[in-house]
Amino acid sequence: MLTLITPKQFNDAIFSMKGISKQMVENHLKLYEGYVKSHNTIREQLNSLSEDDYEKAGATYSKIRELKVELSFALTSIVNHELYFNNLGGKGGEPNGKLRDQIDRDFGSFENFRQDFKATGMAARGWVWLGWNTRDKVLFNYLGDSHNTYLIWNVVPVMTLDVYEHAYYMDYGVRRADYIEAYFQNINWKSIQNNLL
Ligand SMILES: [Fe+2]
Repeated sequence: MLTLITPKQFNDAIFSMKGISKQMVENHLKLYEGYVKSHNTIREQLNSLSEDDYEKAGATYSKIRELKVELSFALTSIVNHELYFNNLGGKGGEPNGKLRDQIDRDFGSFENFRQDFKATGMAARGWVWLGWNTRDKVLFNYLGDSHNTYLIWNVVPVMTLDVYEHAYYMDYGVRRADYIEAYFQNINWKSIQNNLL
């Protein structure tokens, strides 16, 4: 089956955020659209593999291997960016309700969670996910070095932060910590709370 993706539209509020410029968001969205395009190209090629391609499948080099490895990169990139942009455009502050209760239970306090999330963002090369582990029934801040590392089965991403340089360098240079603070100021907690349901 040929599963193609159409780029999503996000809340207009992401173009007028505090401390994260419209220009940087627009550039970031162009990258996202590029990932969608690459994903669709990979899907089309997977859909038209020949008998010869199937016979030549191998773990050192083969067309099916290359396509499936890059599909992992492209698809996780798309999902991560959709989560990220949907997490933004809010007014920041602190969460409440079920999410707040779970944060308090699993981190001890919102401040503890915030400290750990930010430090994970400083330590990562790509992503931070506050994830709900459906196996262990616990929230945890997971670290990713690229779009498809180090994803863990049974974890539902609830809150997602992009720390690739393209996410902040235009506005902040090397000051990643300031970018993460700006991220917190523009969090859309309502959207994030819905990811926990
Ligand atoms: Fe990104």
